[in-house]
Amino acid sequence: MATDWNKVADKIINKERVVVERNRERIPYSTQEEHRFDDYSADDKICWWTNGFWGGLLWQLYRATGENLFAEAACKVEKQLDACFMNYNGMDHDAGFRWLPTAVAHVRLAREKKSSVALEGAIAEARNRGLLAANSLAGRFNANGDFIRAWNDWGDGRDTRGWAIIDCMMNLPLLYWASDELEDPRFRAIAIRHADTAAKHFIREDGSVRHIVGFDPVKGTFLRDYGGQGYGEGSSWTRGQGWALYGFTLSYLHTAKVEYLEAARKIANRFIERIPDDGRIPVDFDQPSEPAYKDDTAAAIAACGLLTLSEQEKTSENGSSDNSNRYREAAVRLLETLDRDSCDYSPEHDELLTKCTAAYHDEKHEFPIIYGDYYYIEAVWKLTGKELFIW
Ligand code: GLY
Repeated sequence: MATDWNKVADKIINKERVVVERNRERIPYSTQEEHRFDDYSADDKICWWTNGFWGGLLWQLYRATGENLFAEAACKVEKQLDACFMNYNGMDHDAGFRWLPTAVAHVRLAREKKSSVALEGAIAEARNRGLLAANSLAGRFNANGDFIRAWNDWGDGRDTRGWAIIDCMMNLPLLYWASDELEDPRFRAIAIRHADTAAKHFIREDGSVRHIVGFDPVKGTFLRDYGGQGYGEGSSWTRGQGWALYGFTLSYLHTAKVEYLEAARKIANRFIERIPDDGRIPVDFDQPSEPAYKDDTAAAIAACGLLTLSEQEKTSENGSSDNSNRYREAAVRLLETLDRDSCDYSPEHDELLTKCTAAYHDEKHEFPIIYGDYYYIEAVWKLTGKELFIW
């Protein structure tokens, strides 16, 4: 029987009302004992790259319910993230992940719901945060090789000046937003140049993608790739495939450059080919069959990418309705599997998705991670018409 996604959305809302009330003072990354969220809002953790997703989850819930509990909690997270602007080393390429789901989402919602008193007061501040974040991201662009530098120095001897990562495709929408907001083409030009580099150097012939690519930071030439968070060099880390699928789709949505649609299709087709029969996404498509670690975040992110790509196939002049149907069906299958095998809808437990994995070679696997919950909700909202478009 087909899943009733409106009923799933109701279960999520009923759960999150209780979870958010219980966690007003936190910015969660994962859960600790007794299914309770941890807290990444202290000074030493506030710049962690996932800290925007709790805000995004709150704004999506506010969009669906109009309940002030969610807006108030989202505004709080947004303010807490201001500490990052005073931490140069904490300001890496994940400015998009931090401020698109928080400050920029706030701006978009405030404009959409013009009458909401809860949102109006802070819109100028939110816009200011989004623009500061976009300027910081643009400042990471290396014109020698046309790429955005991923991370700052880690102090461990590794030279990361020439490193770019596929995840950054999801940060580019912050630059598209800033160009639209300021009617200033600089940000968009940087996003396009980075996306062109990623299309050339990250996507392999078979449609799989690399995680990390190292360029010579002075000559701009390709040096090598790295296994990153996947199984190893040459493998297909599934969350990275998801970032690429969704990221190129978004670059197409924002630019109408047909090369990005073609890139998204190629990655999507390969991803779909490799979904296992049971629909559960491994941490890496090339990992050994045992241990069979799973990553629900990859499934949720890929589902969001596939649904957005399906919509682009349906509505854009370069699209195809066959592709649109195929991508939507694949997304729904991924989501049905998560709903059936992984979701915890109990209000007594803080987490929603239960089997997420940060990196293949980490000690810990298959545990709750906040961006899994965020993207699952975004996907269900896409299916039920509740979504705030954040990217
Ligand atoms: N962007 C880092 C990750 O996906 O784990």
